Amino acid sequence: MEPTQNSDQTQPDVMGDDGALPVADKALRRLPVAELHLHIEGTLQPELIFELAERNGMELPYAGLEELRGLYEFTDLQSFLDLYYANMAVLQSEQDFADMTRAYLARAANAGVRHAEIMMDPQAHLARGIPLETCVNGVASALATSVEEFGISTLLIAAFLRDLSEESALEVLEELLAMNAPIAAIGLDSAEVGNPPAKFERLFARAREAGLRLTAHAGEEGPASYILEALDILGVERIDHGIRCMEDPELVERLVEDRIPLTVCPLSNVRLRAVDTLADHPLPAMLAAGLNVSVNSDDPAYFGGYVDDNFVQLNAVFELSEFDQARLAANSIHSSFASEERKAELLDELNGS
Ligand code: ADE
Ligand code: ZN
Repeated sequence: MEPTQNSDQTQPDVMGDDGALPVADKALRRLPVAELHLHIEGTLQPELIFELAERNGMELPYAGLEELRGLYEFTDLQSFLDLYYANMAVLQSEQDFADMTRAYLARAANAGVRHAEIMMDPQAHLARGIPLETCVNGVASALATSVEEFGISTLLIAAFLRDLSEESALEVLEELLAMNAPIAAIGLDSAEVGNPPAKFERLFARAREAGLRLTAHAGEEGPASYILEALDILGVERIDHGIRCMEDPELVERLVEDRIPLTVCPLSNVRLRAVDTLADHPLPAMLAAGLNVSVNSDDPAYFGGYVDDNFVQLNAVFELSEFDQARLAANSIHSSFASEERKAELLDELNGS
């Protein structure tokens, strides 16, 4: 199957009359970056959802692409999660997971992504009766050839659903470890409010003991105190989103001092109404405060764009200086879980770009 390219409605409104991108935007789209906050299931484009449904003999509850696209109007995180989990139903075989992953990698390569740390939600697939091996092996098989095929180094992050119990997460982590799944890190995602990081203290302790790197969503919809909990109780190295740290100046000071990476996802924050418009996004204030922020796409098929789209739309609103563009790219590389050698290669590439 040909990987499904981003078509589509995700292109920003910044084209010239002749359809050509302004020169500055072309350069931005080539900025070599690491993508650190990406849910592979959130890369399922509507076309691929229909293609996989047909392949698997499934009837979708939507008459066509237009009806499905019409549902991409979210009021908050939960309204998105409902559709995100429903659409996963089309992922049945290893091939389905591999095709989804390859489609992301192809599009990410065009977005300048040179290293990707990819989250997947194993519990969401297990709940649908899909064996762990099917989702892990499917995604991993596409990642295995990513450097040769797309020039993108990758690693896999098993994300745990915080609206489920810690016992469930611990059970799945043990299964992943027992099968020697090629995971480098664990993460924590899904419905944030009411599911504080402290609920997963034992899970993160076990993952640390197993030698895994640690990251968690915090401060997306949840309060700044969840960011503190993720750092102090879970011991995470990175915070996914973290934008609500701006409500706590003392926390900002600490995050700056400790260079804690925040993997920010501007278009996601607009689509899930964490901020009203892109012009209201705290990213410029976060940069000005000296926070270690990077730009990421989160669930690009749902939120109107990949990493390059995020950069171009941010630039259209905030006119990022070349210094800040390079700083965002460098932060993404420094904040990755890649080897020091790979980071040095990527930084060389950035410096030569
Ligand atoms: N799962 C997929 N995308 C997510 C997001 N933005 N926040 C929490 N969980 C998610
Ligand atoms: Zn996320």
